[in-house]
Amino acid sequence: MKNNFILSLALIVFGVVACEKKPESTKEESPFRPTATIQELMLSVVDPNVDPIWNSIQTISNADGVEEKHPQTDQEWATLKNHAVTLREVANLLLMDGRKVATSNTSTVAAELSPDEIEKLIASNRPAFIKNAHDLHEAVTQAIVAIDARDVAALEATGAVIDQACEKCHMQFWYPGDKRPTQ
Ligand code: HEC
Repeated sequence: MKNNFILSLALIVFGVVACEKKPESTKEESPFRPTATIQELMLSVVDPNVDPIWNSIQTISNADGVEEKHPQTDQEWATLKNHAVTLREVANLLLMDGRKVATSNTSTVAAELSPDEIEKLIASNRPAFIKNAHDLHEAVTQAIVAIDARDVAALEATGAVIDQACEKCHMQFWYPGDKRPTQ
């Protein structure tokens, strides 16, 4: 009787363990299709969405004095938010498995690594790449908080934070030998 009980218990435990451990063959394929390269994301998504944020506040000096330009209307704030939300999500796109860096080496600057070298560097130091993407996500979140609050001073401050997030990743993975990048 006691032995039967232990046997059933053992079978139940075994059953639970067996159910939890999925065989390798049923592992689902990733639903994502990371078609664009990192280079294309930078040119087609990052640049067109970060520029309006960086240009949203400008100090213009002319003969009449100094004029500060910043978003004023509901529409201007809403447009800026659209750009910021799009930019923030790129942080996730950058981290998708299987995304190529670029289709060909278009660099003319010696300090810049080739796409193959960048890919190897990312693969060998993925936690740092992930951290850089998360820093961009965090920096743009600060901009979105400022936009939602329509806080011009806070928005202006986030410009430099976003810029640092771009540069940090570029200095580590794009032109790591270059101490003073010009871009
Ligand atoms: C997590 C890493 C990472 C972050 C963050 C990042 N980049 Fe990049 N970026 C790269 C890599 C890697 C390349 C090199 C790809 C290539 O062009 O071969 C690159 C290349 C570029 C290029 C050159 C594209 C070309 O013509 O070859 C531009 C422009 C660019 N990034 C803009 C930005 C801006 C602006 C930001 C911040 C808003 C940013 N990037 C944030 C990784 C990053």
